[in-house]
Amino acid sequence: MKILGLSFGRKMKVSEILVKAALMAAEKEGAEVSFVRMLDFDIRPCTGCLGCINSLPRGGDGRCIQKDDLHILEEAFLEADAIIAACPVYAVGPAGLYKDLVDRFGPAHDYAFLDVEQKKRIAEGKTGDQLLDARIFKDRFAGLISVGGAMTQNWVALGLPNMHLLTFPGNIKVVDQIDAYDQGRKGSPLLDQDLMDRTARLGRAVAQACGKPRDAVEWAGDDGWICPVCHNNLLTVRKTTTVECPVCGIYGKLSVEGDEVKVTFSEAEQKRSRCNYDGKLEHCLEIRSFGAIAGPKMVAHAEELKLKMKPFEGYRELKKAK
Ligand SMILES: Cc1cc2nc3c(=O)[nH]c(=O)nc-3n(C[C@H](O)[C@H](O)[C@H](O)COP(=O)(O)O)c2cc1C
Repeated sequence: MKILGLSFGRKMKVSEILVKAALMAAEKEGAEVSFVRMLDFDIRPCTGCLGCINSLPRGGDGRCIQKDDLHILEEAFLEADAIIAACPVYAVGPAGLYKDLVDRFGPAHDYAFLDVEQKKRIAEGKTGDQLLDARIFKDRFAGLISVGGAMTQNWVALGLPNMHLLTFPGNIKVVDQIDAYDQGRKGSPLLDQDLMDRTARLGRAVAQACGKPRDAVEWAGDDGWICPVCHNNLLTVRKTTTVECPVCGIYGKLSVEGDEVKVTFSEAEQKRSRCNYDGKLEHCLEIRSFGAIAGPKMVAHAEELKLKMKPFEGYRELKKAK
């Protein structure tokens, strides 16, 4: 079993120490581990070309065409059975570098897109190199650690929930997560034995999940969450008692008893969470339907669009000095 540790923080600061502590605990469980300091890697922002997804029906491998260090991470990821990621909170959410990796990894590693394509190729009798890398489809697990300087969770509210954006596209099941806020006063996590013990527990949980079928692995993290699928506490409330978990994209029913809020998510809704296969498939089919609708419309209105675009070309653009 192989575990890849990813730190999005500074060299030898909080995130790095915590990822390495989790990896050390996983190693004691027999895992083969490796560590990546993301700031040492050149990961550029997604340009939105959609070349990754669009290459699939043409027999491509769904990989990004940008030439930077992503391919090194991709290979390490494909080899791994699990990841342990720690990311600092910058401005209430994960640092931008994390989101850059999310955007580059998301569509290119979307499990439903790749699974639908692989099944199509198998049905067409394709074999060997004509198929997608089989390692894409193994059951994978993750432990997530959000690191914040602020004393209260108030300033890290969007950290941990947003860290799931890296795991759900590839169908990686999060088995444990830690909201390591209040680091500003601590100096070093190495002076906080409770946090170090908790981090070791996360490392052990991830190691113990490796090699098991996804459905056989239970949540090993703490209690006290609202959503039973992603184990976060964010809710989108749109003025009725029907509320949404924005991480999973599923609907639940909210009730209040005294001071206690309860949200019930039906089994069917839980199944269609984007953290599970069904939720991703729903979105994959939605995206695949766009072309048939938008394509003919663009062709029919080509001349009209050309005229309507004219005033927008170069409009008030700030030019870079040469
Ligand atoms: C640009 C920037 C923004 C930050 N914003 C927040 C914040 O909104 N909430 C918070 O709790 N900590 C915030 N911090 C503090 C970091 O999360 C904290 O220093 C953390 O330990 C950095 O991770 P590292 O030690 O692994 O590098 C911010 C730090 C920086 C540099």
